[in-house]
Amino acid sequence: MATPLPFVADCTLSGSDAHAYLAPLFLGTAGENSAAFERALLGLVREHVRWRRGFHPDDPPSITAADQNEPGFAAAMQRMEDGLRDLSVRLQRSAPMFSPRYVGHMASDLLLPGLLAHLATTLYNPNNVSAETAPVTAAMEIEVGQQLARMCGFNTDPAHGPAAYGHLTSGGTVANYEALWLHRAVRFWPLALADAVGSDEQIAELLARAIGNGSQTSWRLVNLDLPAILDLHANVEAALDKRADGPKLRAQIAAARFERLGIAHFAARHDLAPPVVICPRTAHYSWPKAMQLLGLGDAQLWYADVDAHMRISPASVGLLLERAFREEIPVLAVVGVLGTTEFGTIDPVHELVALRDACAPRGQAFAVHVDAAWGGYLATLFRDADGKQVPRARVGERFEYFPSTHVYRAFTSLGRADSVTVDPHKLGYLPFGAGAFVGRDRRMTRFVGQRPVYIYDKADRASGEDRLAQLGDYILEGSKSGAAAAAVHVSHQVLPLDCEHFGRVCGHTIRAAERLFDRLQEMSRRLAGSCRVAMPVEPDTNLVCIAVNPVGNESLARMNSFGRALFRHFTIDPDRPQACEFIGSHTSLLRQNLAPVAARKLARRLGFDPNSFVTAVHDIADEADHVFLLRHTLMNPWLTDDGEGRAFVDRYCDFLERSIARTLEGDW
Ligand SMILES: Cc1ncc(COP(=O)(O)O)c(C=O)c1O
Repeated sequence: MATPLPFVADCTLSGSDAHAYLAPLFLGTAGENSAAFERALLGLVREHVRWRRGFHPDDPPSITAADQNEPGFAAAMQRMEDGLRDLSVRLQRSAPMFSPRYVGHMASDLLLPGLLAHLATTLYNPNNVSAETAPVTAAMEIEVGQQLARMCGFNTDPAHGPAAYGHLTSGGTVANYEALWLHRAVRFWPLALADAVGSDEQIAELLARAIGNGSQTSWRLVNLDLPAILDLHANVEAALDKRADGPKLRAQIAAARFERLGIAHFAARHDLAPPVVICPRTAHYSWPKAMQLLGLGDAQLWYADVDAHMRISPASVGLLLERAFREEIPVLAVVGVLGTTEFGTIDPVHELVALRDACAPRGQAFAVHVDAAWGGYLATLFRDADGKQVPRARVGERFEYFPSTHVYRAFTSLGRADSVTVDPHKLGYLPFGAGAFVGRDRRMTRFVGQRPVYIYDKADRASGEDRLAQLGDYILEGSKSGAAAAAVHVSHQVLPLDCEHFGRVCGHTIRAAERLFDRLQEMSRRLAGSCRVAMPVEPDTNLVCIAVNPVGNESLARMNSFGRALFRHFTIDPDRPQACEFIGSHTSLLRQNLAPVAARKLARRLGFDPNSFVTAVHDIADEADHVFLLRHTLMNPWLTDDGEGRAFVDRYCDFLERSIARTLEGDW
């Protein structure tokens, strides 16, 4: 195993130390590390060819010298070259996400080890759907799942209680789908059990033990807490294993399950209201998609209010839970977001798990899923090399403001959630196609098994780690690239998931955001005579949004029009990429997501008429239901230091100031 990069003594990691640490890890803005990259890639390609040759070296060549001398051969090669040249020309119109001038969406230069691993593994083309089609990379996937689970704070050692698991997905969206798919399967299973075989004496006893005294109503069965369901399932399985009629009873249970009957039959049979999922108004749009896809209906996605920091309001979640309890509506999950897509804000995971624990005694159970697609890797800042939690003060030594008590508590409570989404292809700096789902208890996988006979031998009843390697058995996707697993694996090998390694890479994103925050405050004071510059949401992490309003303008619609005109300076034209100095992104702060007090406060800070900020627009010229914002994702490794001691964040602010001046002069 490669030795992780050394830990430089200065844990504040400012200036040149930080730069030196990051320098070998990326290709570099102008391909500064291209020699090492090319050398490594060529070596990997040659190794691959050697590997091919070593497999039955006596086999006759499939392509002979005579084939290669055919005129058609050269013509075909030429067509390939033309095609690739054409591709390369087209690709040069891509968004330059490698550059520190790119502060738009969640993308940046990639970690070299992961990029090389990805490219090299594609040559072998493993399919991680099963260990048979990916004997190497499927095991890597299970291992990185364990690493991510530990990063979240979950136990992964079966000797110490329920052990977590994790696996890769194509992205955060699919991991979120999977979360609901799994939590639904688990939550509804006791109903199927009671329905199908509840009259069996032994099963009835196990059910009674899980539920306690009283009748086995649908409401009670659907509100068993997660550990109780997983224990019940394990006990039932163990009992069935020993019984001659076990296979028959298993078939009966399967026939009564939600997954077999579908929502209409299942709900009618159990006289159940359609289940709901609770998430914040800031949730990513994959959540309504998940509800649609799973046939739950996005009307059953209940949005909890967010506070002025754009964090989910536990009080609002509490009210929604009250309503669900009163009306006997099952809650599949409460979703918290660790790093919201638009603002990078951190939901109070500690309060969500506390709510879950507080609701259990009254007989209301639900899972807490944390969508940490964006912020997940920041958890490395809070864990040392031994896996222990780093005290807040020590985390804070590297930063000016981070982490607030709130942020610290949220991250250090992640291990109390039931499942987590985290994306290596975001703050893990890896090529796209690498999201991940992590579950606190690997027994959850037993509720969704599919074992196609052409992949899994019917006689094979693998258990434990071996079973986990049969990914296709329990994940949502089918064929999947082993290259993603290799990329994550190598990158975690080079940069273990702790504050001294991966945390240093993530740490610079926070420092960049803090620097931008400070510069924007200064700019706001400097420009007070011509316009108001404000951050409507104080950053929790590494995303910063701003709104700008010319002094004297009281119309929100006009202010938004100014914002859109300003944003044109941050939009790249693929035909003239050099004409754009910085590439940004935008979002809108919706009035419906703000409490009236927060909306009025924002209007006052930006100087527009609060009455023009409305939830429904009535075609009145000055009205708007949103505030247009410039959004900055600060993840590029060279934002605080360009190698010559200048910060791109500062250059960005200069450009922003000039762009504001130009926009003010123009027609908006
Ligand atoms: C919080 C959050 N969840 C989920 C996703 C979806 O992830 P992906 O785009 O990888 O599917 C995103 C993407 O930005 C996100 O920010």
